[in-house]
Amino acid sequence: MSSDNANKSEERRMDRLAAYGALISILIFVCITWFIVFTNNPTSMGWFPIHPLLLSLGIGCFTYGILTLQPTAYPKTKAAGLQRHQRTMLFVGFPCVALGILAVEIQKFNLGHGHFATWHGIFGLVSVGWLVGQVILGGGSVWYGGAAFGGGMKAKKLWKYHRLSGYVLFPLLLTTAHLGGAWSVWVTSHSQPVVRFVGYTVAPIVAILALYARVRTSKLKFF
Ligand code: HEM
Repeated sequence: MSSDNANKSEERRMDRLAAYGALISILIFVCITWFIVFTNNPTSMGWFPIHPLLLSLGIGCFTYGILTLQPTAYPKTKAAGLQRHQRTMLFVGFPCVALGILAVEIQKFNLGHGHFATWHGIFGLVSVGWLVGQVILGGGSVWYGGAAFGGGMKAKKLWKYHRLSGYVLFPLLLTTAHLGGAWSVWVTSHSQPVVRFVGYTVAPIVAILALYARVRTSKLKFF
């Protein structure tokens, strides 16, 4: 995931294959979502189309943002990876999620629909709340030398909780997308079963497995 020579020695045998697996499957998930939206007269649906479009894009960014950090071990590759990670997560992924959620809430407000009445909505609320915590934990432990969490080693130690939490949050986000994509009334009435099965069941499972295959368990030790 980097042009740096040192990065070669950071990769294990199946890492590259897993990275391609994760990227391709998440690309399929994003493309299927955009395909369903754009083939169903999006301009007739008020603010709603922005929701699946931006949320799928946000998840695509998170996938790349995690992949880009996974094999980094040396100070130089770590710093470059962290920069790519922050840019992708903070400046693209997170704003996509925030605006996508805002869009569906405006739509619901305009139509007078109730909130969090489906598993998708409830999982969405939990995962977005978790995401906000994830950003605070990650940013707080590195910005200004981790000043928000006491600085130095004290703050650095929190980074591993951010890492572990991210590996729980990623499947949670994809489970939310699965619930919205495979079960919501709008998607089931505007797409073919095989299309949503591939986009919202197969692709998310492959993305999660591929991303997990690249995890360095040594970095997840807490004792
Ligand atoms: C991780 C990604 C996603 C998150 C966090 C998320 C979150 C949410 C939230 C919070 C709501 C509004 C709940 C409410 O106020 O009641 C909602 C509604 C909705 N979302 Fe998503 N969403 C995601 C992805 C998707 C995708 C990919 C699709 C479709 C392909 C989708 C389709 C819908 C639909 C149809 C609704 C309205 C019906 C309902 O509330 O269940 N969402 N989503």
